Amino acid sequence: MKEQLENLQSEALREIEAVTDSKVLQEIRVKYLGKKGSLTAILRGMGSLSPEERPVIGELANKVRERLEEALSERSEAIAAIEEERQLQAERLDIFLPGRKPKIGHAHPLQMVMEEIESIFLGMGFSIAEGPEVETDYYNFEALNLPKNHPARDMQDSLYITNEILLRTHTSPVQIRTMEKLYPNPIRIIAPGRVYRRDALDATHSPMFHQIEGLVVDEGITFADLKGVLTVFAKKLFGEDRQVRFRPSFFPFTEPSAEVDVSCACGGKGCRICKGSGWLEILGSGSVNPVVLKMANYDPERVSGFAFGMGVERIAILKYQINDIRVFFENDQRFLNQF
Ligand code: FA5
Ligand code: MG
Repeated sequence: MKEQLENLQSEALREIEAVTDSKVLQEIRVKYLGKKGSLTAILRGMGSLSPEERPVIGELANKVRERLEEALSERSEAIAAIEEERQLQAERLDIFLPGRKPKIGHAHPLQMVMEEIESIFLGMGFSIAEGPEVETDYYNFEALNLPKNHPARDMQDSLYITNEILLRTHTSPVQIRTMEKLYPNPIRIIAPGRVYRRDALDATHSPMFHQIEGLVVDEGITFADLKGVLTVFAKKLFGEDRQVRFRPSFFPFTEPSAEVDVSCACGGKGCRICKGSGWLEILGSGSVNPVVLKMANYDPERVSGFAFGMGVERIAILKYQINDIRVFFENDQRFLNQF
């Protein structure tokens, strides 16, 4: 019987050592130490032993039980550690995987050009004015010496909300609003903003585009001041090597009027952007028409002024050598990411 117990112990210890699963370990406990287990079965046979043998075998049986209990609990701890490790491996997170970077945008190229133009004029002592995009017929046309049925209105058809209210066709109404607000003080402002026209979308036209208006009113302002300011502006924006050309033109609100061209980057050889002419129109300008000054209460005998209005998209096209205005409004990342 002693031998039986010793065999049982060594066999059980071997099995316990080999287990790596807590469920299997529990089965082994039942198999050896349970009510119907092998150790219990051996002890049941103790009745056939002699009185001298009984306590010896009893003590040995207790030792075997203790030894197995100890081995089981040690193994149970070891298995807990193994199982935890197994779970950690299964749920492993790769903390070195680079994260997904949120896409941080930047200013739209038109916005960038507008800010650059603004900073050039701020540097020359101008301040910034604004006006509404939904404008009255009075400010958009009439106060600018464009009475109802004036033929020059044909070039600037717009979306009308009522007969008297429309989406502004240029930033020039801000001239009138500023004169009304600042009268009788001298004026030196620029006014950037969106404008709208009944123009079909093509490579150089958009029904919505941006302009920057300029207005100077003071004593002794002449056409020479207009030429000086706009020449400095064009050279600052496009580079000192560019030429500036003043071409006679007509606007009802300026007299005399001039359109300003900048020499093309091709150096006058003629290319696709300047359509072979070597020059590119960037703005309309002129001395403020005395009729307009008078309508806004300024005395044309005392003060004079000049005004200009430039198309921001056209300037951006020139600056970045873009061949189609539509790219500004398509939100194509391949275009926008280049800036
Ligand atoms: C005017 O709008 C005048 N208000 C400018 C002005 C202001 C003259 C002050 C005198 C004194 P014009 O219609 O030419 O003028 O437009 C000015 C500029 O806007 C053009 O030179 C061009 O660069 C731009 N432009 C005109 N129509 C479009 C369009 N459909 N899409 C994009 N740019 C345009
Ligand atoms: Mg024009």
